[in-house]
Amino acid sequence: MEIIIQPTPEAATKIAARLVASVIQTKPAGVLGLATGSTPLRLYRELVEMKLDWSKLTTFNLDEYVGISPQHPQSYHSFMWENLFQHVNVATKNVNIPDGLAKDIPGFCARYENKIAATGGIDLQLLGIGTDGHIGFNEQTSSLASRTRIKTLTPQTRQDNARFFGGEEKVPHHVITMGIGTILEARQCLLLAFGKNKARAIAEAVEGPITSMNPASALQQHPKVTVCLDEESAAELKLQDYYRYVYDHKPDWQTI
Ligand code: GLP
Repeated sequence: MEIIIQPTPEAATKIAARLVASVIQTKPAGVLGLATGSTPLRLYRELVEMKLDWSKLTTFNLDEYVGISPQHPQSYHSFMWENLFQHVNVATKNVNIPDGLAKDIPGFCARYENKIAATGGIDLQLLGIGTDGHIGFNEQTSSLASRTRIKTLTPQTRQDNARFFGGEEKVPHHVITMGIGTILEARQCLLLAFGKNKARAIAEAVEGPITSMNPASALQQHPKVTVCLDEESAAELKLQDYYRYVYDHKPDWQTI
């Protein structure tokens, strides 16, 4: 894991944007795994400003709420179109987001997995993290080998996301999410976290034991993970000084 600690979310986002851009430029017909939430919003703005060529890229989103339509303002479909896709030249047919209205959810999830495999697999998976360490919507105790499937949200996650829905009672109970096993198959992962409410989840994910009680800790098993943090989200890391030292002494030939 490469842990990059920057003074602010803006600075950490700039580094993350350079990484995403380098993947897009190196592999214009590559496959990106995308995330939602407030954390990647600034990153999407940066990517839009970079005016990259998205025309041959394929994208797969991590998750979606069950029972709301793609047009619902709080659906992750709406989020992605509003904050990224409508501003870049991505081909609509290459955009994949779980279907929250799928009649046969297990069948849909199996097809989603098959489609990821058929495109050659995800080159770079972008991730945020929940306050309890969840990635995608893989809540605590999700199998570390899990695949795309339906999950029930925890009361904490519904409470965390209530701000978007204007009330906890409006937050759906179920979601479709890529599994932790699906995420671990991406060739590279980029985890972003900002703010002090993520500090404990980050410390446990990076320096704690690998445990389904912190689903992001499964990333310790992945060979290529970059974690971009601001000071606040890095505050509980014991080896902060070491991560800064490593980044400051990164060999010139190692690009982001
Ligand atoms: C949701 C999403 C996750 C995201 C998390 C944190 O649960 N499914 O992908 O990482 O929220 O969101 P935020 O970035 O708003 O803190």
